[in-house]
Amino acid sequence: MVIARRLPGAGLDLLTDRFEVVPGEPSPDRDDLRLRVEGAAAIVADPTVPVDAELLDSAGASLKIVANFAVGYDNVDVGACRARGIVVTNTPDVLTNATAELAVALMLAAARRIGEGERLLRGGSWTGWDPAELLGRELSGATVGIVGLGRIGLRVAELLRGFETRTLYASRSSKPEAEARLGLQRATLDELVARSDFVTLHAPSTPETRHLVDADLLARFKRGAILVNTSRGPLVDAKALAAALREGHLAAAGLDVFEHEPVVEPELLALDNVVLLPHIGSATSKARDGMARLVAENVIAVLGGEAPLTPV
Ligand code: 8YV
Repeated sequence: MVIARRLPGAGLDLLTDRFEVVPGEPSPDRDDLRLRVEGAAAIVADPTVPVDAELLDSAGASLKIVANFAVGYDNVDVGACRARGIVVTNTPDVLTNATAELAVALMLAAARRIGEGERLLRGGSWTGWDPAELLGRELSGATVGIVGLGRIGLRVAELLRGFETRTLYASRSSKPEAEARLGLQRATLDELVARSDFVTLHAPSTPETRHLVDADLLARFKRGAILVNTSRGPLVDAKALAAALREGHLAAAGLDVFEHEPVVEPELLALDNVVLLPHIGSATSKARDGMARLVAENVIAVLGGEAPLTPV
């Protein structure tokens, strides 16, 4: 079996105990990867590794499973896998809390101007305490709009309870259990952005969600709102977001994901009122070990002739 890039020891050890494992490298060359997967029974990929018909064909008829080291699987051509009878798995649940915590961290960091404050201090420009310096906003009591109420969106709603927010959600289906338990209110996307002080994105990247947050939708945001994205970069039109932040229509943003990672839109880099992180939503040891184990357990199950634990 072939690991396209890297897999933490928690999963790698389970695989090397049982299979011949071809290890990966941080930035695999596409042609080299096509050669390495020839004759593989399993490929471990992640969102930086496009798994398309060409790669599947390079692997050939031996390939039984593509185990994605991520909950998102927009890098995998699931249709092409299905057509070839290849199982695709992802890593839900084990990273839900880590990613939801990062979304809340970004809400607070953007609202309290934490990045700006740190840059001021490290830049040697802090002249001492000033009652009017770096005034921010409070999350407590604010209206928060959650776009996509899957596992991570739901965990964000749970974490927000302590902040006593009014919490809206936009989702394809209604979630009566979550509404009753957490006091959530369902809204259309237009209503949600018009009413929310904070909007946090938790939807997958699909052709339908590409540039969901574009200039049109941004114009409908409440003035002074804060946008947080820990899902996938393509959900946001970064140039339109930069314009809304520059013009002051949005107060701030917190972004962990970008459309063309690792490239970050230069117009965003030039702005002080955006907190930028290098895709670290699931970057806790607990989450990454859980993800790695789940990848390995899925491979072991499928190559052992059993059903995968977390198929997509
Ligand atoms: C990972 C992610 O850090 O799970 C996802 O969808 O984006 C992150 O958890 C990334 O996929 C690297 O494996």
